[in-house]
Amino acid sequence: MKIGFYGASRAGISLALYFKDHGLEITGFYNRTYEKAIKASYMTATQVFTNPEELVDASDVIFIAISDTFIEEVSKNLYSSHLSQKVIGHLSGALTSDAIKTECRGKFSLHPIQTLRGQPEDVQFLKEAIFSLEGDDEGKKVAKIILQKIGNKYIELKKEDKVVYHLAATVASNYLVALLNFSYSLYKKIGLNDEAIFSIIKPLSSASLENFLKDRLNCLTGPAARGDVLTLQKHYNALPDEKKTTFLELLKLAADLIFEKGDKSVCEKLQQFINVKGGEKNEQGDNQDAF
Ligand SMILES: NC(=O)c1ccc[n+]([C@@H]2O[C@H](COP(=O)([O-])OP(=O)(O)OC[C@H]3O[C@@H](n4cnc5c(N)ncnc54)[C@H](OP(=O)(O)O)[C@@H]3O)[C@@H](O)[C@H]2O)c1
Repeated sequence: MKIGFYGASRAGISLALYFKDHGLEITGFYNRTYEKAIKASYMTATQVFTNPEELVDASDVIFIAISDTFIEEVSKNLYSSHLSQKVIGHLSGALTSDAIKTECRGKFSLHPIQTLRGQPEDVQFLKEAIFSLEGDDEGKKVAKIILQKIGNKYIELKKEDKVVYHLAATVASNYLVALLNFSYSLYKKIGLNDEAIFSIIKPLSSASLENFLKDRLNCLTGPAARGDVLTLQKHYNALPDEKKTTFLELLKLAADLIFEKGDKSVCEKLQQFINVKGGEKNEQGDNQDAF
């Protein structure tokens, strides 16, 4: 099975390297910006195609590995007299295989749940990654042959679940980074250097993640878990105004977990704190509007 990539994207390059490592045959890359296709083919020791038709003709399976926004448009414009014999996939987490708008033998979406930078090191990260698969019968059949070859675990998704599935992945990855950066910026405010900040954040966050994986319902510690409203009030006061709403929203998320655990009295204290602070914020907002 010959696999080609439309798009010398970060994900495309990482997967081409990973697939090659597992003995799959990669034809090469076509990319809108030619120089990037050359770089990708050099990194993966594969061919460069100067137009999509050549790529399609040379490959049995074509991954449209480009930004989600343009997958529909690019697939609609794919042309080859052999297109009906080809299987086409994309790598998007949020889009379904219906985004592939061309007549072909099979369609699939195969999403590696990992952050990829188009670097050789990604091959290591991909070893641990779970993939998700959705598609028509022929598309899934072919994708499963690829999955079997690379040996990664995968989950099959219904079309209607893809957006929520992808949202959950962004929370666990992208917004987790945003939260870590929030913590970083608070430490920066009191003058700590990066070395000190990272040596605080690393063991703390790693242990939190470990504990979550081991014992989700009982892993939460700190003032929210104790219902320690006095400390929460101090934290709230120390925050810049524009971050107070974020803090209350995070507290609501913590309260969800405490509620699920069944700790009713802590949950009530948190809810009351959130309501009072939320009310004060709204009043301030109204007053500001009056000025
Ligand atoms: N990176 C990740 O961590 C990751 C992980 C899992 C899945 N994915 C999925 O992988 C796919 C690629 O994402 P990426 O982050 O790797 O992308 P990327 O590195 O940002 O590259 C974007 C690619 O899209 C091409 N492109 C943009 N607009 C185009 C257009 N109008 N016509 C043709 N090509 C166009 C670009 O071509 P030019 O070079 O010409 O600009 C480039 O090859 C997406 O579906 C994404 O959801 C990514």
